[in-house]
Amino acid sequence: MLLLTWVVWFSALCAVALGCPSIVSRSQWGARSPKSRTSLKTPVSYVVIHHTAGNRCTSQESCSQQVKGIQNYHMGSRGWSDIGYNFLIGEDGRVYEGRGWNTRGAHASGWNDKSLGLAFLGNFSNGVPSAAARFAAQSLIRCAINRGSLSSSYTLKGHRNVGPTSCPGNALYGVISRWARFQA
Ligand SMILES: *[C@@H]1O[C@H](CO)[C@@H](O)[C@H](O)[C@H]1NC(C)=O
Ligand SMILES: [Zn+2]
Repeated sequence: MLLLTWVVWFSALCAVALGCPSIVSRSQWGARSPKSRTSLKTPVSYVVIHHTAGNRCTSQESCSQQVKGIQNYHMGSRGWSDIGYNFLIGEDGRVYEGRGWNTRGAHASGWNDKSLGLAFLGNFSNGVPSAAARFAAQSLIRCAINRGSLSSSYTLKGHRNVGPTSCPGNALYGVISRWARFQA
């Protein structure tokens, strides 16, 4: 019991020290197993921001449902090995594990092997994501640097900067274009 308490306390302390937000794991949101994985060579040099262009969500339960639906769509209709993004961000302020830190994503053609793909859950053409979601994404980026997954001299891009798409929506694009290290 004492050991367990200590382990829990120590991992919480590590997470704080790394600036990492708490991440809802694949098993927590009910992920299917990937059909295959290709490892991502880290640290990568880019972060690519997306929106999912679907429904917004503001609780762990509703965001988990969204994430499951996206995984089914990516694996079923798209025929991909797994959900495309490395991580997804809910307006509940939680980060949901997609392919995670060490697996190459399928989110931005030509950029998957050199970036982390982060997707905000919802359609942000008109409205911006909640402050909690914006904070979670920025905290995840800091965490990525601290754990060695992202170069500290990284470049931040929106999906539309690397491919022919309106993603991540005009409103969200306006937000991220004011964040540190953004470059169109
Ligand atoms: C996202 O919202 C915009 C503006 O309301 C709308 O035009 C667009 O069709 C929506 N995207 C999707 C995929 O529903
Ligand atoms: Zn996108």
